[in-house]
Amino acid sequence: MRTQVAIIGGGPSGLLLSQLLHSAGIESVVLERRSRDYVLSRIRAGVLETGLVDLMHEAGVGDRMEREGFVHDGTLLANGNEQFRIDFKALTGRHVMVYGQTEVTRDLYEARDAAGGTVIHECRGVKPHDLDTAAPFVTFLHDGKVNRLDCDFVAGCDGYHGPSRQEIPTAERTEYEKTYPFGWLGVLSETPPVADELIYANSERGFALCSMRNDSLSRYYIQCDLSDSPDDWTDEMFWDELKRRIPEEAADRLVTGPSIEKSIAPLRSFVCEPMRWGRLFLCGDAAHIVPPTGAKGLNTAASDVHYLFNALRHFYHDRDDEGLEKYSETALARIWKTERFSWWFSSLMHRYPDQSGFDLRMQQAELAFLRDNEAAQKAMAESYVGLPY
Ligand code: APR
Ligand code: PHB
Repeated sequence: MRTQVAIIGGGPSGLLLSQLLHSAGIESVVLERRSRDYVLSRIRAGVLETGLVDLMHEAGVGDRMEREGFVHDGTLLANGNEQFRIDFKALTGRHVMVYGQTEVTRDLYEARDAAGGTVIHECRGVKPHDLDTAAPFVTFLHDGKVNRLDCDFVAGCDGYHGPSRQEIPTAERTEYEKTYPFGWLGVLSETPPVADELIYANSERGFALCSMRNDSLSRYYIQCDLSDSPDDWTDEMFWDELKRRIPEEAADRLVTGPSIEKSIAPLRSFVCEPMRWGRLFLCGDAAHIVPPTGAKGLNTAASDVHYLFNALRHFYHDRDDEGLEKYSETALARIWKTERFSWWFSSLMHRYPDQSGFDLRMQQAELAFLRDNEAAQKAMAESYVGLPY
């Protein structure tokens, strides 16, 4: 089997890259370890930057998002019982789109099907070879036999646990990591959202977030201990704790109901440098992770895909390899700025187990500064709606 670009991983990065390449007449094959149902059962954040919204349109998959997504012109930040708003539209002239990552992935799968694209599910032992030559290939087990996929380039879109990153020799690779001393307990419920916009809350009992998927589907999170298990938390305990962390007027309006999903995610910041080795190019979670505060995971994946897609397009259409040569540098410059934002926003909104009195005063002063200073709000809003590509 031969293709131009072999894509390892059929999450949002791999599928979006494949669909964009198709729109430019470049062939690709996606190799995914799991079944499609499994990929579509993963629940992730759902706030899209304008850059990703534009990419979805460029890939020809923006119609349902435009119909069913929700434009948010601002967000609410709560500190105890106090609340203020960051007005994205007034501060930046832009907005974000609330549309679940699961829906983005579903739309991409449907578009790949409609275009006759090849996505091979349940591949085992996926392994790239000869990445430092002009003729790399990928081997994998599928339907009980070993297959070989020859290609010009390999895109490593296989997430944090995927094998692609490990192909960069350890002597050439540096990994930067920070773990946070808490997790997020998330609940999805078939209830109307408590507010029209998201509420990020810093309370003395810890962080809470009120988010949503649509008018009748809400997503809530509370900061929890890393040692907690979702089974430790009944729905009633979750709702009680959430209500104690958000402003009273919101708590009074909150409509509760049975959870249809409940899970705990740890918080981590991670970056691998470089993002390219020979003919291997890493995209998305394979190269970097952000803590979920600010919902940048999918959006950072999208900016990588944007840079890699354009670099490949110039290579195939114009015989220009400058974008490929500069891919790692260009992608990382934006990634680090988004890492900074996610780390800053996480540090601002959570309570840390070892937080001193001074640390707490600094956090409170930073929140007060943000509430009162338009320049600080503008800086925050620019990162939230997405830095330019
Ligand atoms: N072979 C083939 N596929 C693999 C392998 C492997 N050995 N290992 C992992 N994969 C697949 C996973 O099953 C998954 O479907 O790669 C895909 C990676 O998808 P994601 O983890 O969703 O990563 P990415 O596409 O970069 O999307 C980034 O998704 O994970 C969230 O928080 C993240 O929102 C961000 C976005
Ligand atoms: C979500 O809806 O899941 C979500 C929204 C915003 C975040 C994180 C997660 O910052």
